[in-house]
Amino acid sequence: MREHVVIIGSGMMGSGIGAMSALAGNKTILVDVEESRVLAGKERAVSCIRLRQEQGLNTAEEARRAETLLETSPDTEQAAGSARMVIEAIVENLQAKQQLFEKLDRILPTDVPICSNTSGLRITDISSLCQHPERTVTTHFWLPAHLVPLVEVVMGDKTDEQLAVKVRDELKAWKKSPVLVRRDLPGQLANRVFQAIIRESIAIVASGLATAEDVDTAISCGMAMRFPEWGPLKHLDAIGLDLGLSVQETVLPDINRDGCANDYLKKLVEDGNLGVKTGKGFYDWSKRSIETDMAKRDQFIIEAVKATSRLDQTEAGGENR
Ligand code: NAI
Repeated sequence: MREHVVIIGSGMMGSGIGAMSALAGNKTILVDVEESRVLAGKERAVSCIRLRQEQGLNTAEEARRAETLLETSPDTEQAAGSARMVIEAIVENLQAKQQLFEKLDRILPTDVPICSNTSGLRITDISSLCQHPERTVTTHFWLPAHLVPLVEVVMGDKTDEQLAVKVRDELKAWKKSPVLVRRDLPGQLANRVFQAIIRESIAIVASGLATAEDVDTAISCGMAMRFPEWGPLKHLDAIGLDLGLSVQETVLPDINRDGCANDYLKKLVEDGNLGVKTGKGFYDWSKRSIETDMAKRDQFIIEAVKATSRLDQTEAGGENR
């Protein structure tokens, strides 16, 4: 009987995705190229489950059951034998993903969705060797996958919309906040918006308008405070579209419209200033700890997820969450 969610690639993303699948009550198989990797992936998935329980995001009963639902396999074909849904989370390499998709497409019945967690490749290209690309779709979880609610469900040129909607609805049942993206473009949806923010942020630092730290503070302590509950388009409706239009007419002509990476960023990279991995980027990492900052980030996400689910329970307006 086909009753398993099969996650292929049990690295950083696959283990978090596997945790969310098992917490939603699915029999889940984590697959990787060798036994030691799947076992390490399962260990990470169990840590994700326990963290969610400790933080009150899941009950003790949900966590206990999830651990019993997690299985592992070093054999893709064998795991696919009982799959009702497959999520691929292997390395970000087009050829490797194409080969895997071709194989899965050959061995799985045509009603089994094959999903890719690709962050930058087109599902249209990943499924180009498949006989049934209509059952392929991107499900782009955001890191850390066991905490960030967003999943971008991106349709390829040949994806069946009903299939994409079915996958989106499945992910809603996993307590995720999936969005449907109807065209297969670079950056999917959220990274298109994020890149616009990054482009202007770098331009502000490059022009000397403000320091990197002040740009981050302006975003983190300003607009980002509203974002978990109040996106920019809701904000426009709230302030009035006439005011929104007038601000656009004043500000847009003055902000960055470059169609390529900023020279300031190119120079940092050329000089070997790559950020945390070399000790210097926009910040001097010899004086800061990325581990501390990451722990603070994750704790903030946990508190935001708790707060937004509390609001969902008390308000009727959470239909898009
Ligand atoms: P990772 O390197 O931590 O894990 C990939 C795993 O896939 C490894 O354990 C590897 O052994 C396994 N693998 C490789 N080829 C395989 C095959 N043919 N069959 C079975 N297993 C195989 O990588 P990570 O970070 O988990 O990324 C996975 C995917 O998720 C990539 O497509 C990446 O672009 C995407 N992604 C990554 C994010 C991130 O921030 N790390 C965020 C969102 C998406």
